[in-house]
Amino acid sequence: MIREVTGNKREYLHLLLLADEQENMIDQYLDRGTMFVLEEEGQAIGECVVTDEGSGIVEIQNLAIAPDFQRRGYGKKLVSFVAERYRDEYDTLQIGTGDSPLTVPFYESCGLTVHHVIPNYILEHYDQPIFEGGKQLKDKVYLRMSLKDKKSRIDELLEKPYWCSEISTDTTKITTITTKRGTG
Ligand SMILES: CC(C)(COP(=O)(O)OP(=O)(O)OC[C@H]1O[C@@H](n2cnc3c(N)ncnc32)[C@H](O)[C@@H]1OP(=O)(O)O)[C@@H](O)C(=O)NCCC(=O)NCCS
Repeated sequence: MIREVTGNKREYLHLLLLADEQENMIDQYLDRGTMFVLEEEGQAIGECVVTDEGSGIVEIQNLAIAPDFQRRGYGKKLVSFVAERYRDEYDTLQIGTGDSPLTVPFYESCGLTVHHVIPNYILEHYDQPIFEGGKQLKDKVYLRMSLKDKKSRIDELLEKPYWCSEISTDTTKITTITTKRGTG
């Protein structure tokens, strides 16, 4: 089940830090963002935070799946959920991430394509060097997908049975999950 977090978003800091390891960077979008958590058997195993960037753009600012649950399709399902939830209100889904050999292929597999790159953004905005998949991250890569293009790959995904379209406002406490650090 995917539900919107209406209470304390910082309860999920352990997941947020998987995707964005510097807390003051998370502070830049957490309060103004809408947060969703993905739960399995009452346990929060993933989250995402989305913001309105104006000009018809909705952006996933932070997306993480707990390490033990990665590569099982949950990340793609969260992206599909966001696309479905916002397709009537927005034209474009955007994601900004480090130039990581792990995350860029993931978002491309969700149907997004690279739109633009901000050179040296990671180097200039993060206090510590960040490595992923053996590579030091340097640039910020923005990927986009049209929410109006009926032929986009995300639409193909959504045509399949969709197990997590229901949203609950339940704010049950969630078990803490051990985390590893990553990039935004
Ligand atoms: C990136 C992340 C959200 C992906 O979620 P996930 O649930 O593991 O991904 P999925 O199982 O939905 O993967 C879907 C497809 O994306 C691609 N993909 C996912 N992870 C990948 C990786 N590490 N390397 C290369 N391709 C990857 C694959 O094509 C995968 O399909 P496959 O497993 O059939 O090969 C997750 O690994 C994560 O939370 N990482 C740490 C936080 C982070 O880096 N967040 C993104 C930055 S905002």
